[in-house]
Amino acid sequence: MAKEVRLIVLISGNGSNLQALLSACDTGQISANILGVLSNRSEAYGLRRAEKYNIPTIVFHRLTNRADYDEDLGNLVATFKPDWIILAGWMHILSMKFLEKFPNKVVNLHPALPGQFPGTKAIERAYTAYQQGQIEQTGIMVHLVPDEGVDDGPVLATQTVPILPDDSVASLAERMHQTEHALLVETVRKLVVGEIDVKALSN
Ligand code: GAR
Repeated sequence: MAKEVRLIVLISGNGSNLQALLSACDTGQISANILGVLSNRSEAYGLRRAEKYNIPTIVFHRLTNRADYDEDLGNLVATFKPDWIILAGWMHILSMKFLEKFPNKVVNLHPALPGQFPGTKAIERAYTAYQQGQIEQTGIMVHLVPDEGVDDGPVLATQTVPILPDDSVASLAERMHQTEHALLVETVRKLVVGEIDVKALSN
């Protein structure tokens, strides 16, 4: 029997990308189990999404300094023995105290192309840059998280997203989210079946 692939998903908010993963694992599009969903915010709606699939949820507030928080978070996540840790709208920059426990296993989704608009409000900043004539398109990336670089690391997948002349931030955000749901699911599917050689990427 094939080994069960174990996923942990970290979220901070709405969890629409988590929802895409939950659906894909539920239907078998991704051959993996989401063993737990962890959030640093108790109000994150993604926690409710996970509960609907009877997946354990954990709220892990930061009450200590960053190093201790990340160490404790890493110890907690390690108890699940995850094959992959998916950051799906996780808005806390993980330090090496966490990352050193999971080499080549932490995957982040970011709503911008590599090297562009790291950090928060990437979609809004891309929209402004378009209005100012600085860019003609934006995009999505999924990448490994080897270190504390913000939204940076070996790229697993990218998808460009056009910005249209009559776009509002809301219409662009809608197109971005649709695109990232598909790209995240397809990338995690490939990771799970071994279609992406992460060791080669991270060398
Ligand atoms: C997504 O757009 C994701 O790419 C972004 O947060 C959003 C979460 O949406 N992540 C980052 O900006 C990471 N720097 P969701 O909670 O609906 O999945």
